[in-house]
This record gives sequence, structure tokens and C-alpha cells, in this order.
Amino acid sequence: MTSTEQPTASEPSRGAVTKAVIPAAGLGTRFLPATKATPKEMLPVVDKPAIQYVVEEATRAGLRDVLMVTGRNKAALEDHFDRHWELERALEAKGDLVRLARVRQSTDLGNVHYVRQGEPLGLGHAVLCAADHVGNNPFAVLLGDDLIDERDHLLEAMIAVRQARGGSVIALMEVPPESVHLYGCAAVGPVSQDGGDASVVRVTGLVEKPDPADAPSNLAVIGRYILDPSIFATLANTPPGRGNEIQLTDALQERAASSGAGGGVHGVIFRGRRYDTGDRLDYLKAVVRLAVGHHELGTDFSSWLTGFVAEKDSTAP
Ligand code: UTP
Repeated sequence: MTSTEQPTASEPSRGAVTKAVIPAAGLGTRFLPATKATPKEMLPVVDKPAIQYVVEEATRAGLRDVLMVTGRNKAALEDHFDRHWELERALEAKGDLVRLARVRQSTDLGNVHYVRQGEPLGLGHAVLCAADHVGNNPFAVLLGDDLIDERDHLLEAMIAVRQARGGSVIALMEVPPESVHLYGCAAVGPVSQDGGDASVVRVTGLVEKPDPADAPSNLAVIGRYILDPSIFATLANTPPGRGNEIQLTDALQERAASSGAGGGVHGVIFRGRRYDTGDRLDYLKAVVRLAVGHHELGTDFSSWLTGFVAEKDSTAP
């Protein structure tokens, strides 16, 4: 989309959310050396790469048009969501239908498209790369290394808030004050006096990775967004911010302050299960949690884990 196609004050965008954008072009430096040649979104979480959980979440919420913003390791991501004929034929020939179904799982999910972010200039820049594909419609952004447990329906709740209130919607999570410097952080106020859902708030300000002393709250921005397309015009004029990157948080701060078309930002406070697979420690926790609940491996893995912990405790000095 060109800048001339952005919504104007007389042309607010009120359409349905049908597209998902998944930025997956970051460098993944927190997970080196594993991410030197493999995108962090392709790291396995039990038996699927992290990104497959994210695409599954989008399609569960009805968003079957998925645009992935990729960078230097584009091939692995594209290959994962493409057919693998040789493998499929080999499994068919062996009659191994269980594994054949596993191979096909990722290709049957929806329509996955790709756009390349030439240089990793920041999350805001990655989102801007989706402008042509998205057009003048509200859209979802799901960070490719941030997993929401499939039992929690965060994205659906956020889409409902967008439909009811317009503007953009972000997901917030309470974090300990000493961790707030790792996230974007929101200043919030009540939505209205209509006695509505207490987990929905009006966002009055946003700051990227603040020092704990300057943080406006302990509400951290997590990796799910429903964005009004007016964000593209804002992003195009957003200068590099923290870390010299074009920050989505900075553009959203401006949208939160705007009373024009597509302006206003609401927050949905999420109290469910979230796994950050871009951080080594959180990744290990995600693997253990999801392995314990896995439909095939869970029982055996849980009993092994119980024994392992008991043995470790008994041999502790
Ligand atoms: P992160 O803040 O986790 O950065 O990006 P990163 O570079 O991927 O990882 P570290 O911090 O060096 O370990 C948040 C999300 O935004 C995407 C990432 O792929 C991730 O899903 N991103 C970030 C881009 O797509 N492009 C960018 O330029 C930056």
C-alpha cells in the first residue's frame, strides 16, 4: 500500500480482522549460538518449531491469511510451511500415515505469505514491511517467538475489543517491577464507567524498556497486537528510538494520544499462560511445561521429571 492509500479522517477503517502478520526477522542474539544459522522461531518446542504454534494460534482465531516478515534465514521458515514431496512420498510408500499427517500439519494451516525485511531495523520497521499486503484493514501482529497457550483465547478477546471500540489493541501482562525494563510498559486508565470487562483498559502512554524507577506501571506489552492500518502512516514517520531501532511501541504511543481516525489504544490484560521462546531460560521452561501437557509424551515425561527432581534433591549437598 502506498501512503496515499492510508485511511483519512473521513475514511475510518472499521473492517473485520482477517490477516495476521508475524515478524520473524530479528537477529535472535539472546539465543546465540543456536540462532547463528537458524532463526529462533524455528527452534523446536517439544516436537514443533515455535513458529508453528503461532501460526496455529492465528488460524484458530480465524486468521488464515498469514504474512511472515522474514530476514536472513528465510529458507528454513518457508520450507517449513511448504510441501515436502520427497518426504511425503517416502512416508506414503512405507504406509506411515501418522508421520505423514505430522509432516502435512504445517502446510494445511492457511495461506502463508512472505515479505523480506532487508535489514533488521526494528519491530516497527518489520510491521511497516507488511503495509502493501495488509492494505486498509485492521490486522493482527503475533511475535514469532512469543507463545500463548492454546487453552487461552487472548487473540479472540483482542479482536472482540477492536470490533467494539475501534483503534488498536495491545496485550498486557503484569510482571514483577524488577522485570519491567525488559518490555514495553503501559500507562493505563479505566475504559469507561460502563462496568465493562475489568481486564480491558485504555492505554494513555507507552514507553519501551523503561528503567524501573520511570516505569508508569508493572503492565508489560507482550507479543500480540491488533493494529489499525493508520499505524503504517505513523510508523513511516517514526524515527529510530531505543536501541536505534524503529520501535512499534513509539508509534503506538502516538496512536494512543491521537483522537483522529484509527486512533486510541486499548489494552487487554492477559492472565493466562505465555511462553517466551526467545530467551534461553524461558525457552527451557516452555519446553518442560508443554512437554508435561503433551498428549503423547506428557505421562512418561512427567514421571521421568518427578524422578529426576527427587534424585537431584536427594543428592544435593
Ligand atoms: P526481539 O526484541 O526479540 O529482538 O524482537 P530479536 O532481534 O529478534 O532478538 P534478540 O533480542 O536479539 O535476542 C521481537 C520480535 O520482533 C521481530 C523478531 O523476530 C521478534 O519476533 N523483529 C525484531 C523483526 O522482525 N525485525 C526486527 O528488525 C526486529
